[in-house]
Amino acid sequence: MKKYYFLITNIVLISLLISCKNKKFTEVVEVPLPTAQEKVSIGFPDDVKADPGSFQLEKLPYPYDALAPTVSPLTLETHYSKHYLTYTNNLNELIAGTEYENQSIENILSKLDLNNADLRNNAGGYYNHSLYWKSMAPNTGGKPTDTLASVINRDFGSYENFVTSFKAEATNQFGSAWTWLIVDKYGKLKVTSTQNQDNPLMKNAAIPGTPILALDLWEHAYYLGYQYRRRNYIDSFFNVINWKKINENYEASQRKRY
Ligand code: FE2
Repeated sequence: MKKYYFLITNIVLISLLISCKNKKFTEVVEVPLPTAQEKVSIGFPDDVKADPGSFQLEKLPYPYDALAPTVSPLTLETHYSKHYLTYTNNLNELIAGTEYENQSIENILSKLDLNNADLRNNAGGYYNHSLYWKSMAPNTGGKPTDTLASVINRDFGSYENFVTSFKAEATNQFGSAWTWLIVDKYGKLKVTSTQNQDNPLMKNAAIPGTPILALDLWEHAYYLGYQYRRRNYIDSFFNVINWKKINENYEASQRKRY
């Protein structure tokens, strides 16, 4: 009887040990809640309006949190409601009462005097960001389809070659810049970059053409999420490219040529 009692005691002890060991993997660890100072409230893109003028904000076609984790909600909100709004208001103020007041943004960019730094920076800032918002969308990424897929194959050899070329171009930029996929005057796709808020429509463009895809490489576009890791932001951008829209941009550029 004593022998059986000893055996049962051992079984209970071993069961308890196993139970405690498993608990280590299932135990709930209490995580402290953010303090009042850490709470950040994110607004709504549609609440942001430019002052009266020739140009209005391009409507952001998704909420501020739609592109996370590629673009953090706070980054997108600040970028859209502060940086972009400022460029737009400045542009309207700069062209009010001038020859540019009733012109398209493409005309203004192709004609403006490059020595006019205020107009150059703000007209560029307005156009570049307007295209950047439309270049992205939630639940996209993947590869281009439709006409653009075959044109990329024609001009880069393959989609993979295009990605390598675009990422290398973006990675090689120093400081505030933009990397573009453009259509040149012969209808050929090219990858190029510009500094500050310049773009390929301006007179000084090294490779001129019509932009159809824009990547903002200014620190304000990624720093909150990536800090110094700009390469990770460039890689992640490919998860949110709106290829359907880029294809539409390509087809619109072809209609303008003929
Ligand atoms: Fe920007």
